[in-house]
Amino acid sequence: MQKAREQLQLFSVESENKPRQSKINRLEEQDRAFHDWYRFVLSFPPHLVRQHLDEFGVDEQKLLLDPFCGTGTTLVEAKKNHISSVGLEANPFAQFASAVKVNWEIDPDLLLEQAQRIAETVQRKLQRRASATDGQSALRTLPSEAAKLLIRNSISPLPLHKALILRDEIQKYAAAPFCAHARLALANALVNSISNLRFGPEVGIGSIKHDVPVVRIWLDQVDKMVGDLRRVQAENYPAAKIHLADARELSMYLDPRSIDAVITSPPYPNEKDYTRTTRLESVILGFINNRAELRTLKKRLVRSNTRAVFKADDDDEWVRNYPEVERIAQEIEERRIALGKTSGFEKLYHRVTRLYFGGMARHLAELRPFLRPGAHLAYVVGDQASYFQVLIRTGELLGDIAESLGYELARIDLFRERFSTATRQYLREETVVLRWNGNKRTSLSFGQTHLDFCPP
Ligand SMILES: C[S@@+](CC[C@H](N)C(=O)[O-])C[C@H]1O[C@@H](n2cnc3c(N)ncnc32)[C@H](O)[C@@H]1O
Repeated sequence: MQKAREQLQLFSVESENKPRQSKINRLEEQDRAFHDWYRFVLSFPPHLVRQHLDEFGVDEQKLLLDPFCGTGTTLVEAKKNHISSVGLEANPFAQFASAVKVNWEIDPDLLLEQAQRIAETVQRKLQRRASATDGQSALRTLPSEAAKLLIRNSISPLPLHKALILRDEIQKYAAAPFCAHARLALANALVNSISNLRFGPEVGIGSIKHDVPVVRIWLDQVDKMVGDLRRVQAENYPAAKIHLADARELSMYLDPRSIDAVITSPPYPNEKDYTRTTRLESVILGFINNRAELRTLKKRLVRSNTRAVFKADDDDEWVRNYPEVERIAQEIEERRIALGKTSGFEKLYHRVTRLYFGGMARHLAELRPFLRPGAHLAYVVGDQASYFQVLIRTGELLGDIAESLGYELARIDLFRERFSTATRQYLREETVVLRWNGNKRTSLSFGQTHLDFCPP
C-alpha cells in the first residue's frame, strides 16, 4: 500500500496543477494482470481504487462494494489485495466479465489444454468449409433479430463467420469450469482485434478488416489468462460475488450493515448509450438476442441518456423538491425552446436530467441500511454539458443529494479534466468522497427512507 500512498500524494499535487492528461485513466503496465482480460472504455484505473482502499483503511477483515461495477476494476483490485467484495451490475455482459475476472479457481493447465483442442477443431472446420465452398454465401451469420442490434459494419462477414464457429465449439463445453474464461477471451479478442470497432471514447468504426486470424488471436488471449492464473495458484484469495442487479434495488443482494466501503463509478448524465459499448460481444455471445432483451436491460440502468427513457419512469420523484436539479432541468428546456429544437430526443433532455439525479438519489437512499456506521464511499463522476451546453456539475450535485440523505460529504477530489469538443471547454471528472455515520431514521422500510429523503 506504500505505492498507493505515493500515488495519493501525486494526485493531490496534480490536482492543483489540473490533471488534464487522458493518460491518467490508462491501465499501467504493472496492473495488466486480470484487469486486461476484458476492460471497457468506461473503466476507471486500478491505481484510483488502490488509492481509496489505502485511504479508507480497507483490509482483509472488511467488505467492499461496487454497486456499478462495470467490468470489475474495483473487484479485481480488491481481490489482488486480499479484500472480499461484492459487485452489482445491470448489464449482463459486463456482469459476466466481472465474474470471470475474479474467478481464479480454475485449473490453468486444463484451460490451456482444452483451448488448444478447441482451436485445432475449429481450424479443421474452417479449412474444410473453405475447400468445400467457393463463395461468401456459405458464411455463418447471426439470426436477423440479433444482427439488427449491431452497430453497422462493426464486424466483417469472414471474421464473424470464424468467430461464430469458434463460439459454438466453445459452447460445447458449457458445463466445464473453463468455458466462461474461454468465452471472455473471445469477447476481448472480438472487441480489440477481430472487429472493426474503435473507441475514442465513443464507439465508432475504424479500419475495415476483411479477414483476421480469429483462432490465433483468441488463443493468445487465453494464453495471457493462463499466465495470470498460474501466478496466483499458490495463494488463497477471498471470494468476490457479482450480481446481475439494479443498484437502485439492492436489498436482495446485501446483508444489513455489512458494507465497510464503496468504491464505484456510476453512469454520468452524458447522453451516452452505455449498452452500445458492449453491444458486439453481448450479441455474439448471446447476452442480448433481440430488441425486447435490449429494452429489459435498458430499464435496469440509471437513466443517463434519452434512448433509455420510458413512459413509466418515476425516479424524478426522488429529486422533485431539490432546487438545483430543478433549475438545471428548466434551463435545459428553456434553451431548447429558445433554439427551436423539436426532436423527440431533445424534448427529453430536461426529463432525463431529473431522472438521472433521481435514480442516483434512490440508489444512495437504498444503500443506507447496508452500510456499517463509519463506512467510507467514493463515487467517481464527470461534469457534463451534453444538453445544449448547459453545465451539469455532477459531482457537486451528487454530494449535495448525499448530504440531504444523511451522508457526510468529506470532500470532492479532482480526478482529471477532459476536453469537451461540443463546448470547447474542460469538464471536471471528480471523486465524491462520502462517509456514513449511521442514521437513526434509516430503516429497512423503503417507504420510510423515501420520505426521509425529501430535502428541507
Ligand atoms: C462508468 S461504468 C463503471 C465502470 C467500472 N468502474 C469499471 O472500471 O469497469 C458504469 C456502469 O454502471 C452500470 N449501471 C448503470 N445503471 C446501473 C444500475 N441501475 N445498476 C447497476 N449497474 C448500473 C453500467 O452498465 C456501467 O457498466
